[in-house]
Order: sequence, then structure tokens, then C-alpha cells
Amino acid sequence: MIGRYSRDGYMVLPRLSDDAQLQALRAIYDRLFRERGSTEAGDYYDITGRPGDDSEPTLPQIIRPEKYEPRLLRTAHFQICRAVAGRLIDHAAEQLDFFGHMILKPAGYGAETPWHQDEAYMDPSWENRGLSIWTPLDDASIDSGCLHFVPGSHRGDVVPHYHIGGDRAVRGLATDEVDTTRAVACPIPPGAATVHDCRTLHYAGPNRTAHARRAYVLMFKLPSRRVAAPQPREWLAL
Ligand code: NI
Repeated sequence: MIGRYSRDGYMVLPRLSDDAQLQALRAIYDRLFRERGSTEAGDYYDITGRPGDDSEPTLPQIIRPEKYEPRLLRTAHFQICRAVAGRLIDHAAEQLDFFGHMILKPAGYGAETPWHQDEAYMDPSWENRGLSIWTPLDDASIDSGCLHFVPGSHRGDVVPHYHIGGDRAVRGLATDEVDTTRAVACPIPPGAATVHDCRTLHYAGPNRTAHARRAYVLMFKLPSRRVAAPQPREWLAL
């Protein structure tokens, strides 16, 4: 599995969490989205929206939910994910940097997550070697917004990105530099997970089902190191 992961840049993991654990994660998840008003500025936003726009968010996200609910770090789910990350990154698990995020695709109108590489969001002055473990708390089907990957895309560079809709006020990034004919969809049940390298091109469709698609993502990275000659990422410049 490790060999396949390093070849493809993504993998599917069998179910990591039992029903009780999933229920506990769902309860925390729902509470954090209900209380979004109390999250500090910047930790809750609509990936596809503009700041200050008060229309109903179509792709709301909470960054670093463990700040608001430290119990997330004491779950078996976290321990398993960190151990998997340590094996795949080939580094002592407890030395990895990490943060979580929760991405909600509301029933019926959750927006698509356009093709992107997670590393496109990161400051190029720092080397980023890492991965995300993406766990849906609901069935993740092609119709509800499971992830799609381009195998092997993690071995290339970070490709040019732009802000969704060409609007720099929108936080979400997208790229057209992707051969979608090579994409592989990864539908998985709640509590299973997909893992992807921070450079793997990925996408999730809109949610066309009658149930929400809640996803809890843990990103693990090697401690950052300065890059001698960083490649500029114009889309990040202010
Ligand atoms: Ni992503």
C-alpha cells in the first residue's frame, strides 16, 4: 500500500472509525458549525464566497477545529491518522506538524470543490512535504461530493492556480492545468478515508443528494524548512 501511495499520490483506507467514534465526531462537527459565530475571525469561511457576503454559504469550512474542541486530538481517529501519516511520510509521527479542517457540502446545494493542489495554498518560501487524510462522516458518493484524484500528479510541480471565478476576494483556488480524463473517483463510506499528497491534483463534485456531506480532514506535514530559491506563486501575492 505504501508503494502504491508513493506511485499514485493518493490511496483509499478502509474504515478507520467505529460507529461510536463516528457518532462522537459528528456531534463535535455539528456543534462547531452551529457555533460558527463564536469561532475567531478567519477560522470559519465559505471557500467559494466573498468575505462579508451574507448569502447562505455553499462550501463552509472550519480551520483548526481542534482549537475549539481539543478532545479531537484525544480520539482514536486522530491517533490512527497520525500513525498512518508517519508511515507514509516516513517520519516520527509525533514530530509531524498537523492541523485539521472540516468542510461541509450542504444537502442539495453544496458547491463543487474545483481541481487544485493543496500546496498551491502554501507559502512557497517553505518546503512542504505532507498529506491530508480525508474522512467523510456521511456516505461520500460521486453524487454527494467524494474526492477525485489524478494519479501521479504529486510528482510534478505546483501548477498555476487562480481564485475561484477569477475573484481574488474568494479564498478558494482552482486550476485548469489538469487532464481530467485521467481522474479517478473514490467513493467511500462514512468513517473510511482517502489520503492524498499535498501536491496531488484533486476535485470534489457538488452535493446533489438529500443529505449533507460532512468531511473531516487532517493534514500532516514535515516541520517546515526554508526554500533557497522559491518558485513564486502569483495567485498568493496580495
Ligand atoms: Ni484540497
